[in-house]
Amino acid sequence: MPLVAVLGATGTQGASVATRLLADPTTYQVRALTRRPESAAAQALAARGAQVVRADLNDAGTLGPALAGADALFVVTAYWPSLGPLGRDGAGEEELAQFRNVAIAAAGTPTIRHVVLSTLPGCAAMSGGKLPVPHCDYKQRAAAWIRDAHPGLWARSTQLWVGWYTSNLATVMRPVPVPVPGNDDTSKSYLLALPSRGDALLPMAGDVGRNVGTLVEAVLRTGPATTGGRPDRRLRHGDAARPRGRRRPHQNHGGRRRVAYAEVSDAHMARLHGDVGAELAAQFRWSEAYPDWHGFAPDRTLGLAELGLEEGGRRGRWWGSRRRSGRSRTKSSSKPILGSSPPSRRKGRTRRGREKRR
Ligand SMILES: NC(=O)c1ccc[n+]([C@@H]2O[C@H](COP(=O)([O-])OP(=O)(O)OC[C@H]3O[C@@H](n4cnc5c(N)ncnc54)[C@H](OP(=O)(O)O)[C@@H]3O)[C@@H](O)[C@H]2O)c1
Repeated sequence: MPLVAVLGATGTQGASVATRLLADPTTYQVRALTRRPESAAAQALAARGAQVVRADLNDAGTLGPALAGADALFVVTAYWPSLGPLGRDGAGEEELAQFRNVAIAAAGTPTIRHVVLSTLPGCAAMSGGKLPVPHCDYKQRAAAWIRDAHPGLWARSTQLWVGWYTSNLATVMRPVPVPVPGNDDTSKSYLLALPSRGDALLPMAGDVGRNVGTLVEAVLRTGPATTGGRPDRRLRHGDAARPRGRRRPHQNHGGRRRVAYAEVSDAHMARLHGDVGAELAAQFRWSEAYPDWHGFAPDRTLGLAELGLEEGGRRGRWWGSRRRSGRSRTKSSSKPILGSSPPSRRKGRTRRGREKRR
């Protein structure tokens, strides 16, 4: 049974992956990697059947032993916690070093056959340097470094682009209660203030707790066809949703509430929230200019159907739902993860293979 090492298993994305894989104990073993194996979150994972192993992305020496014997690896790195102490580029440099550390360890672990890297689009490169967003750009710099320094590992890797967490609207960017003209009951009036035009599109990831795990499991199950020996094969999840769409009655904690939307200037965001505000503003402005992640590299991007998944769900189309259907377009999706034949033998089944054969 394949053993999947999961970084960030006590956090949002990694927990989603660990939860999904732990739900299938006859198919996967999970190794949760954490800096604090004794923490309640890590112990909860252990109670659900995960191995819990100490690993620190900033401490390269911990990573090799933590990956020993793993068949697959999910990588998510930390940017935001270092933003305060290190600044926007300093946090990015640290994140780049984290990717390097784990890539070197993974490349030195012969059992690893598939790596899923949680990255984001390269905003500076895409905008010709006009709209840099360090927490995205350093992830793409890291991907480029892995591609150049460890091509063998890169050929076994899939990038996953996760859209803006919908849960941010209940946490870091939650609407605040304010009196709104036309609504006398201020207890039910909220203001959502973001550094973005009201009609802009924002790629959102829906229910991250479920969707990330669903996607990563599908990528692992599909196996080499998601890498296909193709250096730039990547998957992004997240659909476009309009921030202003949140103006409709907003259901929260049971009541119907009125939410008004206001655009905040970038400068005001930075004044209010320092580097975090500046970084968020940069991300939103970039999203205004480049809303369509699906169109960035269509020939190099996997769709949900190729993974045997379907978009949809109870609450709207950006709430992707898990479907393990047999209706996938690729034969490879029905193969068990990590049991598939290597990329070279599967050439004809990848899009590139099909293109070459034409
Ligand atoms: N928020 C969004 O809307 C959004 C959207 C797309 C992408 N992202 C990206 O998602 C990433 C963060 O992922 P997340 O939201 O899942 O994180 P999170 O919920 O904040 O949790 C952080 C996780 O990272 C682990 N971690 C932190 N520093 C570590 C280190 N030095 N070594 C090993 N593990 C470490 C923590 O584990 P322990 O504490 O147990 O060690 C924890 O499990 C960021 O890179 C961000 O840019 C965020």
